[in-house]
Amino acid sequence: MLSFLMLAAACRSAVPAKPAADQAVQSVAQQPDTNPPANVSHGEAPVGSVADSAPVEARLAPAERGRLHHIRLEMRHATITIAPGQRYAAWTFDGRVPGPTLHVRQGDTVDFTLVNHANIPHSMDFHAAEIAPSKYYVNLMPGDSLHYRFVARVPGAFMYHCGTAPVAMHIANGMYGALVVDPATPRPKAREFVLVQSEFYLGGDKDSAGAGTLDWNRLLSLSPDHVVFNGRASQYATSPLEVASGELLRLYLVNAGPNRISSFHVVGGIFERVFQDGSPTGALSGVQTVNVPVGGGAIFEVRLAEPGDYPFVTHAFADATKGAVGVLRAR
Ligand code: CU
Ligand code: CU
Repeated sequence: MLSFLMLAAACRSAVPAKPAADQAVQSVAQQPDTNPPANVSHGEAPVGSVADSAPVEARLAPAERGRLHHIRLEMRHATITIAPGQRYAAWTFDGRVPGPTLHVRQGDTVDFTLVNHANIPHSMDFHAAEIAPSKYYVNLMPGDSLHYRFVARVPGAFMYHCGTAPVAMHIANGMYGALVVDPATPRPKAREFVLVQSEFYLGGDKDSAGAGTLDWNRLLSLSPDHVVFNGRASQYATSPLEVASGELLRLYLVNAGPNRISSFHVVGGIFERVFQDGSPTGALSGVQTVNVPVGGGAIFEVRLAEPGDYPFVTHAFADATKGAVGVLRAR
């Protein structure tokens, strides 16, 4: 009874008896158009319109031959474009967001060098490695470097990211990427793409060059301005990914977050197989939408039945509206 009374009191206090006229006008003005034009990708972004810069490459390059991979990543702060006309003062691996996609095979050795060219401490956490964080995922001071090796023992679609506290800040500022580990027995031939989903929270003071910066309170309240694939809102809606109808497509999705679960879905397709976290065993088959947790990955296999445009989204549609939408264009 007490809780009912408290709830009733809360409801009364939350609903003003007579809202001010300007508040009412504002709430109507914020409603999106309910009758959008037809040339939209599931209503979220224009398809095939002019982008203000070339899209980030989404194709997965083959793993290099050889069992030993020398990988060097340099951490630096850089201005990137996260949406048309929106620049952002990012923290990066190799000056780009997401960082470079790394691709090896199960059992390969990664010989890794990390260099910090930024003016604050950063670090690296490889989800594909099984090593002691206290030894290797340590903070690198500006100008320092770190070198070690690990064996990529488990196949999958793995996240890597800066692990320096507060981790949410370092991830929200752009310090993440994908490491794909192919299984020892190769997967069937397919057209392969890598998509890293993540969020940007604007509202901090602009930097001296006018680029946006992180709003920490918006991050803590889980309210991103942009939710993106490969670092830029709606880039594969404006520049669709070209594929062929009937061919096997394989999409490696890593969800960097730092906060939003991805409910990944291809409009007009049903996934033939989905490998959660990229594990080659226990695939799901014949599924429409699969959640990819923050800090996790999945591999999606799908064939598009006929020529046409097939949007891919997180079916959490507030996030698709904020940019987590793209298009597979089947010829
Ligand atoms: Cu960092
Ligand atoms: Cu992590």
